[in-house]
Amino acid sequence: MQFFIDFYSQYGRFIVFIHVISAVIWIGGMIVIKFIVLPALETIHDTKLKLSRILQIMQRLLNFMIIFIVSLAITGIFMNLGHDFRHSLPSLYMLVHIKEAVWTLMAINFVYIYRKRNSAEREFVSGDDEGSAESIFTISNYLLPLNIFLGFVAVYFGIILRGL
Ligand code: HEM
Repeated sequence: MQFFIDFYSQYGRFIVFIHVISAVIWIGGMIVIKFIVLPALETIHDTKLKLSRILQIMQRLLNFMIIFIVSLAITGIFMNLGHDFRHSLPSLYMLVHIKEAVWTLMAINFVYIYRKRNSAEREFVSGDDEGSAESIFTISNYLLPLNIFLGFVAVYFGIILRGL
């Protein structure tokens, strides 16, 4: 435990930096897919071209996010141990656990989005354009908004943990 406290007192600024940047990229990436990429691609009339572009861009963005999702959890745990929240106010320690739970929900939802995109691609390849579009609709209208909302909750709890 002392190791984490010493490590955090030396590299805390860097760890918080990685934590915040990872949150920005994960949440920002989802916002960009939902509010920028998908509406822009909706204007393509050729259904096959539209679906293939959406699937390709989603795959690149989802793969890109994985490293930041992992680094959020690792830096979060370093921050928790470095601050020694276990021996601070019980309400703050509980909030750390709530953040861990929120991260877990977001990660499960991310895996679900990932698999849904894969099944949308399989449907597209097998010629089922309607099924593919439906899977993308589910991602865009339910799964991404849920994760964006959970991301905002995690950021808000982070600010409370900071002491504000
Ligand atoms: C394993 C899960 C997580 C743990 C244990 C955790 C832990 C923490 C802790 C202890 C702080 C306070 C840092 C400080 O006072 O210096 C913090 C801040 C923060 N967290 Fe997390 N976190 C987790 C997940 C997340 C997630 C999923 C997001 C967003 C997607 C997030 C976004 C933030 C942000 C933006 C801050 C900075 C707030 C500020 O600058 O005031 N965290 N987190």
